[in-house]
Amino acid sequence: MGKRSFAAVGAAVSILALVSACSTAVVPAPPSAPVETPPPAAPEPDPAAPQTSVLDGIYTEAQAERGRAAYDGHCAECHGEELRGGEMAPGLTGVAFRFRWRGLKVADIFESIESTMPPEEPETLGDQAYIDVVAFLLGANGYPAGDRELAADSKLLEGIAVERMPP
Ligand code: HEC
Repeated sequence: MGKRSFAAVGAAVSILALVSACSTAVVPAPPSAPVETPPPAAPEPDPAAPQTSVLDGIYTEAQAERGRAAYDGHCAECHGEELRGGEMAPGLTGVAFRFRWRGLKVADIFESIESTMPPEEPETLGDQAYIDVVAFLLGANGYPAGDRELAADSKLLEGIAVERMPP
């Protein structure tokens, strides 16, 4: 077990190294600014850098409650009332959640669930119910609620990083 996981980590690290080597190679040269107008002094935001994270209170308690109801109706039969999974489906909290989504964006969670779940009838709950379920899953994984609802807006969700909970 120990050896295998070290090997897996090694493989992951070399893949990462490869990926970052590739992405640095394809970064386009910055567009040259017109000579007459110097570029503005304000630092340009990096569009790739997430603006917020799941630690910032990105959904509301009420939304997570609705998500719980949708989860109970459409997901719990396989993933379990306590989200621990079962013989047929993986758990959705704890290590399973962190391992699956780390380094990704809330958009990835939303789109993945909407396009694949429930397996027999994906995309049947509607955007609002899916995003409510995402809010519920964030709450179940210990991420704090706040005072604004999470919107089913892929562009916005793309800017929210799935950070690890601080210990
Ligand atoms: C009929 C059983 C069943 C139902 C109902 C179901 N799931 Fe799943 N779910 C699965 C199985 C099986 C997998 C593993 C699929 C795989 O790995 O290909 C899975 C995987 C997942 C994953 C991990 C996906 C990934 O990309 O790693 C998430 C998150 C998830 N389900 C959420 C939900 C949500 C939310 C609902 C309700 C809207 C739901 N599931 C309903 C069986 C189910």
